[in-house]
Amino acid sequence: MLVTTQEMFKKAMEEKYAIGAFNINDMEIVQGIMDAAKKAKSPVILQVSSSAIKYARMNYLRKMIEAVVEENPEIPIALHLDHGPDFETCKMCVDAGFTSVMFDGSKYDFEENVQKTKEVVEYAHSKGVVVEAELGKLAGIEDDVNVDSSDAMYTDPEQAKEFVERTGCDSLAIAIGTSHGAYKFKGEAKLRFDILKKVKELIPDTPIVLHGASTVVPELLEMCNKYGAEIPGAKGVPDEILHEASLSGVSKINVDTDLRLAMTAGIRKVFIEEPNIFDPRKYLGVARELIEDTVYHKMTEVFGSSNKA
Ligand code: G3H
Ligand code: 13P
Ligand code: ZN
Repeated sequence: MLVTTQEMFKKAMEEKYAIGAFNINDMEIVQGIMDAAKKAKSPVILQVSSSAIKYARMNYLRKMIEAVVEENPEIPIALHLDHGPDFETCKMCVDAGFTSVMFDGSKYDFEENVQKTKEVVEYAHSKGVVVEAELGKLAGIEDDVNVDSSDAMYTDPEQAKEFVERTGCDSLAIAIGTSHGAYKFKGEAKLRFDILKKVKELIPDTPIVLHGASTVVPELLEMCNKYGAEIPGAKGVPDEILHEASLSGVSKINVDTDLRLAMTAGIRKVFIEEPNIFDPRKYLGVARELIEDTVYHKMTEVFGSSNKA
C-alpha cells in the first residue's frame, strides 16, 4: 500500500531500524527492489530524482508505481521526490500523488534554506504530503552543485534544531561525512556519530536521513571491473557503519550508487561471457536479480527493516 513516511518512521524510531530509500529509473530497478522488499517483508521508499523524471517521464513512473502498489498490498511503500531543487518540482510531485518530497536547499545559506523549505512544507502539508529537508553539505558531487570535500560542511546540531522548528519539516537529511557517488572516502571510512548523537538529543522526534549511503559493494565493484569497467579505487560506507547508523537514530538510508553498480555488473557480465546474446531480457534479467540480491542484503542484514512490513 502507498503510505507517507510518517508512520514508517515512527515505527522505525521506536524499534531502532532504518528504512532503505532506493532510487528508481526504470522497470528493472523497480522490480528488483520490490522483489527484495516482498521477500524480506520490509517497508520501502522508492525515490525519484528530477533527472529520473526527465529520463523515465512522470507518467511512466506513476503507472509503474500503480502496478507496484497493486501487486504488493502488504508492503508499506512511500513514493518520494529525491533532491527536489525548487518549489515547482516539489509541487509537481505533490500534485502527481507522491507521498513525500525532499526539498534540497543545502546550496542556499541558512536563512534562504529556511524560507524556501517553509514554502514547500506549507504546500505539501496542505495536501497531506510530508517533507524532507537538508541542512549541511555533503562532500562530493550533489546533482549540479559541486562541493569541494575540503569545504564539506557538517550539520550543526543547534542549527538543525532551529531549522526544524522554523520550517516544520518532517524529516531532516544531515551531513556527517557521507557523499554521493562511488568515491566517498580516500582513506578509512568514517562518519561523525558524535554529530548524529547531538542532533538526536536536540530533536529526538525528527527522523534523520542519511544521503550518500551506498556501500559501493566490493563484490559488485569487482565484477564491474572484471568485466571491463574502469572504476578503480571506489569506496563507500561499510555495512557495519550503516548498521550502527540504523541503531543510532538514522531512519532513512539513501541508496542509488549500489543499484547502478549492480545493474552495470550484471549487464557487463552477460556481454562479456555470452557475446552472442542480444536479447535485452537476458542481460536486464541478470541485472534485475543482482539488484534484488543487493537490496535484500541491505534490508535483512544491514538496515534491520525485514519483517517490519
Ligand atoms: O543523490 C542523487 C541520486 O543518486 C540521484 O542521482 O540525479 O543522477 O538521478 P540523479
Ligand atoms: P549514493 O550515491 O551513496 O547511492 O547516495 C544516493 C543518495 O543519496 C540519493 O539521494
Ligand atoms: Zn542524496
